[in-house]
Amino acid sequence: MNILGIETSCDETAAAVVKDGRTILSNVVVSSLREHSRYGGIIPEIASRRQLTCISAVVEEALHRAKVNEQQLQAVAVTGYPGLIGSLLVGKSFARAYAARLGKPLTEIDHIQAHLYANFLRDPDDRTPAPELPAIGLVVSGGHTSLYHIRNPRQFRLIGQTRDDAAGEAFDKVARVLALGYPGGPAIEKKAAEAKKGAIKFTCAKMPGTLDFSYSGIKTAVLYHKNEHAGEADYPVAEVAFAFQDSITDNLADKALDACRRHQCCTLLVGGGVAANKSLRHKLIERGKIGGIKVHFPPMPLCLDNAAMIAGLAMHQA
Ligand code: KG4
Ligand code: ZN
Repeated sequence: MNILGIETSCDETAAAVVKDGRTILSNVVVSSLREHSRYGGIIPEIASRRQLTCISAVVEEALHRAKVNEQQLQAVAVTGYPGLIGSLLVGKSFARAYAARLGKPLTEIDHIQAHLYANFLRDPDDRTPAPELPAIGLVVSGGHTSLYHIRNPRQFRLIGQTRDDAAGEAFDKVARVLALGYPGGPAIEKKAAEAKKGAIKFTCAKMPGTLDFSYSGIKTAVLYHKNEHAGEADYPVAEVAFAFQDSITDNLADKALDACRRHQCCTLLVGGGVAANKSLRHKLIERGKIGGIKVHFPPMPLCLDNAAMIAGLAMHQA
C-alpha cells in the first residue's frame, strides 16, 4: 500500500511516499527557514505564501523520486492539526483537491503523533524491526513538549505536557537573549560545546507529582542574568548556554523516564526538532539503560518536520 503524505504545518513544505506504513520510497522537504531567520522567528504570512508557491512541485518530486505514478497511490494523508493556520490550509486544500481528482481516500493526521511515529520508518534496504509497544512517547519540538502513552499506532493518550513554553521555544528565546541567532536549538548546542562546565547553574521548575513541564521560568532566569551583566564585554555566553541546555535536557530526561516507570513501559520513543540535541540523546540513552528502557530516536532528518511521518501513520489511522 503506497500512501502520499503532505506536511505544511509550519515553514516546511514536504511530501513523501511511504509503502506499507514503514518503508520510505521518497521524502522531499523544502524550507523557508532562511527567510525567517532575520526576524528571529517564523512569520506566518511568509511561511504560507512560500507553501503556496512550492506545494505542486514538491508533490511531483516526491512521486518522481519514489518511482510511483498517481494510479499506484492507494491513499493521500495530510497534516490536519496542529500548526500555523495559513500553512495548514495550503496543505489541506491541496490534499483535498488532489485526493478528489484521483478518487482516493484522504486522511488528516495529528502532527505531534506523527513525530513519534517517525521512529517506525525505515529506508527500503533497512531490516530493523519496529520498536516494541506499548511505549511512552516524548515529543520535543518548537511548539510542543508532551508525553504520550502509546498502546498501538491508533491509540495515543496524552499524559503530560508543558504548562507554558515548549522546549524548542525556550531554546529559541534563550538564543535570542544571548544573540546566538535562529533557530536557537542548534545555535545553543554549538555554543555550549565551548563552555567550562559547571561554572553557572540554572534550574527548571520540577512540577512535582506530575508529568508536566514548565520552561518559562528558566527562560526568564537567563534573561535576568543577562540583564544583570549588561554591557560586560566578557559575559560568559558559552557557560550560560551550557547551563541552560544542561538543566532543560536533565528535566526532559527525568520526566520521560519517570513516565516509563509509572506506566511500566520498556520503550521510549522520542520525536520533534529538539530530539536532534546530543546532550538530550546521551542522557536518555545512558539513564534509560540503568532502568532497562530502550530509547528510540528517528534519524536526524526525520526528527524535523517531514511528510514521511504523516504518510506512515496514515496507514494505521486511515
Ligand atoms: O519539530 P520541529 O522541526 O518543528 C516544530 O514542529 O516545532 O522543531 C523545531 C525546534 C526549534 O525550536 C529548534 O530550535 C529546535 O527544534 N531544535 C533543537 C535542535 N535542533 C532543532 N533544539 C535543541 N537542540 C538541537 N540540536
Ligand atoms: Zn514538528
